[in-house]
Amino acid sequence: MKAAVPFENAVDLLDADHKAVKQMFIDYSALCEDPAPAEARRALAEKICQALTVHAKIEEEIFYPAVREAIGDDALMDEALAEHAAAKELIAEIQGMKATSDNYDLAVKQLGKTIGEHVLEEREEIFLKAQQAPIDLRGLAVPLYQRKKQLTAAVQKPSKPTKETA
Ligand SMILES: [Fe+2]
Ligand SMILES: [Fe+2]
Repeated sequence: MKAAVPFENAVDLLDADHKAVKQMFIDYSALCEDPAPAEARRALAEKICQALTVHAKIEEEIFYPAVREAIGDDALMDEALAEHAAAKELIAEIQGMKATSDNYDLAVKQLGKTIGEHVLEEREEIFLKAQQAPIDLRGLAVPLYQRKKQLTAAVQKPSKPTKETA
């Protein structure tokens, strides 16, 4: 079963998500500079929102509870959940906006900033503590990977085909 998961461990898997999302935010900035048509910006923003929604969900369902139990730092884990909640509000806002709206790019940029700060704290505090705690991070990669696949298929289903215009 382990061989089916292309990641060393849970932290490796989650960090790969962080890097992929960071790159998408960089790509989004490039679209703004272009400036790319609203449809192209909307398609990428939607991809970012979907990736973040899935990522937050697998952390909340699988990774955070395991870490919380092992490190016994409720304040740290509660703070991370509050940061997820703030990001989800921004995601909902973006998903409810028209990409032609004046504030659209600003909202995506704000989401990028919020996520950047959260990821930094996650890496420097939660991942570090998890790596020092008695958790089977290697084994945890399996449910994270499987749940991610399942959720990704679910969020992508209702979306319209993306047009690679720009
Ligand atoms: Fe997180
Ligand atoms: Fe994360």
